[in-house]
Amino acid sequence: MQFSLSEKKFYRILSIALAFVMLFALINVNSIPAQAKDNKKIVILYFSATGTTKAVAKKIKKNTNGKLIEVKAADAYTSADIDWTDDNSRVTKEHNSASSPAKSSVRPKIKNLSAIKKAVEKADVVYIGYPIWWGTAAWPVNGFITANNFTGKTVIPFCTSSSSGIGESGELLAKEAGTGNWLEGERFQSGASEDDVKDWVEGLDL
Ligand SMILES: Cc1cc2nc3c(=O)[nH]c(=O)nc-3n(C[C@H](O)[C@H](O)[C@H](O)COP(=O)(O)O)c2cc1C
Repeated sequence: MQFSLSEKKFYRILSIALAFVMLFALINVNSIPAQAKDNKKIVILYFSATGTTKAVAKKIKKNTNGKLIEVKAADAYTSADIDWTDDNSRVTKEHNSASSPAKSSVRPKIKNLSAIKKAVEKADVVYIGYPIWWGTAAWPVNGFITANNFTGKTVIPFCTSSSSGIGESGELLAKEAGTGNWLEGERFQSGASEDDVKDWVEGLDL
C-alpha cells in the first residue's frame, strides 16, 4: 500500500500520540494506591488550625487517593483565638465552659457541613483528623460528628499534638457519633514523614 507524505505524517503523529497514551496509562496504574483498586470510596476530613494536621491529611490522601476535605469553622479560629496560654483567648474560654471530657458541649458551627455530609454519605471509609486540644479532639470536630450517619462505614481517627497521645479522643468521638465502625486511631508528630503515614495507612489493610 502506498501512503502519501501527509498520510505518513498522520500515522507518525498517531503512533507518537498512542505511545504517550500508553506511557501515561502505565504511570497511572503504578501510582494507584492499593485501597483505590478495591473501589472503596475514601474521604479524609480534617480540621487544622496551624497546618500540622493538614500536612498529615495530605499525605493520607496521597496514599489512598481519597477525597480531602477541610472542616471549616463558620467563625474561623485566628491565631489569637487559639492562644491556649492566654486565659482570655477564645479557646481557653470555650475550654473552661465545656461540661464533659469530650468538650462535646463546645460545638462550633461548621461552614461547609453540607459538603461534608454529602461526601460522608458516599464514602465507605472516613478518616477524621484533628489537633489535640487539652487532651481531646479540637472541638470543630464536635461541630460535624453528630450531624453525620456513619452506619456501615469504617471510621479512622488521626491526630497531631505537641506531646500528648491520641488518648481517649477517638473513643469519645465514636461515642458522640453513635454510629460507624471506629478503628483505633493514630497520633502523628509535627513533621511526620511520608513513610510514617504510608506505613500506617498500609497497616490498616482496608
Ligand atoms: C488550644 C490548644 C490546645 C492544645 N492542647 C494540647 C495538648 O493538650 N497536648 C498537646 O500535646 N498539644 C496540645 N496543643 C498543640 C497542638 O495539638 C499541636 O500543635 C497540633 O499539632 C496542632 O495541629 P494543627 O496545626 O493542625 O492545628 C494544643 C494547641 C492548641 C491550639
